[in-house]
Amino acid sequence: TAQDGLDIDARYAFARRVALEAARMGMNYYRDRNALVVEHKGDPQDVVSLADKEIEQFIRHQLSAHFPEDGFLGEESGSAALAARCVWVIDPIDGTACFLNGLHNWCVSIGLLIDGEPYLGAIADPNHDELFHGCLGRGAFVNDVPLAVSAAQHVREGLTGTGTFHPRGKQHFIPFLQGLLGEGGMFLRNGSGALMTAYVAAGRLIGYYETNLKSWDCLAGLVLVREAGGLVNDFFRDDGLLRGNPYLVACPGVYDQLAALIGPSLDGAVD
Ligand code: IPD
Ligand code: CA
Ligand code: CA
Repeated sequence: TAQDGLDIDARYAFARRVALEAARMGMNYYRDRNALVVEHKGDPQDVVSLADKEIEQFIRHQLSAHFPEDGFLGEESGSAALAARCVWVIDPIDGTACFLNGLHNWCVSIGLLIDGEPYLGAIADPNHDELFHGCLGRGAFVNDVPLAVSAAQHVREGLTGTGTFHPRGKQHFIPFLQGLLGEGGMFLRNGSGALMTAYVAAGRLIGYYETNLKSWDCLAGLVLVREAGGLVNDFFRDDGLLRGNPYLVACPGVYDQLAALIGPSLDGAVD
């Protein structure tokens, strides 16, 4: 099994501890956010600040101190040792636009792949004192409370999370919203794909769709969704780990309905 020779317990505890510490660090920047220098990555809506970079550096230092042989993929600083058995996938702040505008929907997301398999994750939301975490075969939790996905059987029975208008796949977004509303569904976008994924695991949202998400936005969360009884699309196909892909997570009762509303672009050729 993937666990042969690897200390899973230590890595799971590490993910939770470092996510909490990084989130506390984020909170200090958040209180003083008007002092942060903000840059955009080409698109004026795609912003990054010193806080994002410093938190990612903190997590990288922690990793090299505790698991120097493990690989790393982070939104702000790229990758290292991707051929290692354990590869950590990090978003130092997911929900940066919220963070910089004084909205409380942001978090730190730390996920781990073992032998290419999403294995464990921790998502820390310091504004709401919620630490979402889970590990393959061990369940998913918010703080100490076990998570279970929604029992909804139809999109009209709950809220469906949605993402941004990413250039890749954006032509699928408006038709999806139209279809969802036509079925009596309702969309919600809170600005953090990682948190909305955790909310699917928690049964607060019945599903979450984004036309193109990156692995650091969703890797930790999708482990939680699976452990909480939900379904995830084939996100890692066609180099999804590095390039991103269409992304759907949902409770079993609405997964097929959402997939049908999205259509073949969900798991078809990437456009
Ligand atoms: C973004 C958030 C957002 C999602 C975008 C992501 P960032 O991440 O998760 O909810 O819709 O696709 O890029 O930039 O805040 O780390
Ligand atoms: Ca993100
Ligand atoms: Ca980010």
